[in-house]
Amino acid sequence: MNELAGKHIVLGLTGGIACYKAAELCRALIKEGATVQVVMSQAAQQFITPVTMQALSGRPVYDSQWDARPVNGTANNMPHINLSREADAILIAPCSADFMAKLLHGRADDLLSLLCLARPIDKVPLLIAPAMNREMWAHPATQRNVAQLGADGATVFDVGSGDQACGETGDGRMLEPQELLDEVSAFFQPKVLVGQHVLVTAGPTYEAIDPVRGITNQSSGKMGFAIAQAAREAGAEVTLVAGPVSLATPRGVSRCDVKSAVEMFRVVQERASAATVFIATAAVADWRPAKAADQKIKKGGTGKAPELTFVENPDILAALAQSPRGLSRALYCVGFAAESHDLLANAQAKRLRKQVPLLVGNIGPATFGQDDNALLLVDELNAVEMARDSKLSLARKLMIEIAARLGVKGQP
Ligand code: CTP
Repeated sequence: MNELAGKHIVLGLTGGIACYKAAELCRALIKEGATVQVVMSQAAQQFITPVTMQALSGRPVYDSQWDARPVNGTANNMPHINLSREADAILIAPCSADFMAKLLHGRADDLLSLLCLARPIDKVPLLIAPAMNREMWAHPATQRNVAQLGADGATVFDVGSGDQACGETGDGRMLEPQELLDEVSAFFQPKVLVGQHVLVTAGPTYEAIDPVRGITNQSSGKMGFAIAQAAREAGAEVTLVAGPVSLATPRGVSRCDVKSAVEMFRVVQERASAATVFIATAAVADWRPAKAADQKIKKGGTGKAPELTFVENPDILAALAQSPRGLSRALYCVGFAAESHDLLANAQAKRLRKQVPLLVGNIGPATFGQDDNALLLVDELNAVEMARDSKLSLARKLMIEIAARLGVKGQP
């Protein structure tokens, strides 16, 4: 995906061992379509050379406010002005404790701090990726600075936790390049779901036959995880209830793992009262064995297959959509339907049967486990097609569609 196509990022490096990750980050930003202008503090150059960053960014690195080279064709000897004017964001990664303290006080005694202060504050956002020793991170002065920088309009990313270069273990590591890339991409998404709490089900369920066997299906969970990520990027608080899948939890999403449909239903019911939007993407098994055997069912050489009887699972989506909060749309419910044919007719029929305001149809077998999909959105007014695209792009578009429908009352 060209997540950052057309974006121009000023990547500022300050002094810290995490400068080694900035090289990878620079590559990753460019790979996603951004142009990157690197600016380094003197301290950063103790850790990594401008030669490396110039080679990776394909642009000369700036490190001095006295640099007379023209910037973007302007030769007025003011790199601190010219470098930020075309930027879509300034990303300081790594940002040392010292540099945060400097930013906080509006000090401007080197090029990087100077250009942060001189940036048009409403047009050029400042993104900060802190990196430091755990004691420095935990110090009240640093925490005070983090809070104040946030209040001044900067976006301060989380820190990672784990082994530190100094040999200690704790909070304060800079996020990994891929995590920072995700944060930067998320930053640029429209915040259409701020104040909403989105509950998502994803993946298959697993219905036990005995302790070693069960019935499940081919759902990979990718669409549901993309939706959880997109909802989070759109500013919502997100709870993801996932069946058995091996996918990483999207950043900032609270996840609860379940196995069976009954367990998924219980967890969803527990979480639903706090939610304002429910998106059911899980491929919930319609039936489960009436009673799972306590012990492994042995073949025993009899030649006879065991006889299984099934009972119906609860319909999680229908139950929530038809609850008082679902019917009043205080909980806006969105269903998914994986069909093999007649998508529009089947999706519309399913929407009415389950009484959900919005149903998202797709042709199931063709998309299982894939990274892309094509969707058909069906509501009480019309049907909207979303052409084939990555699941994350579709999920982001879906968040905009859902946000537009929130607060609109109507008949299911
Ligand atoms: N769903 C659910 N609980 C179930 C079955 C389905 O929450 N027990 C949800 C799915 O997460 C999805 C929607 O209902 O959002 C439609 O799922 P689908 O399996 O297509 O619906 P079914 O009711 O099983 O319809 P059918 O098998 O007749 O196609």
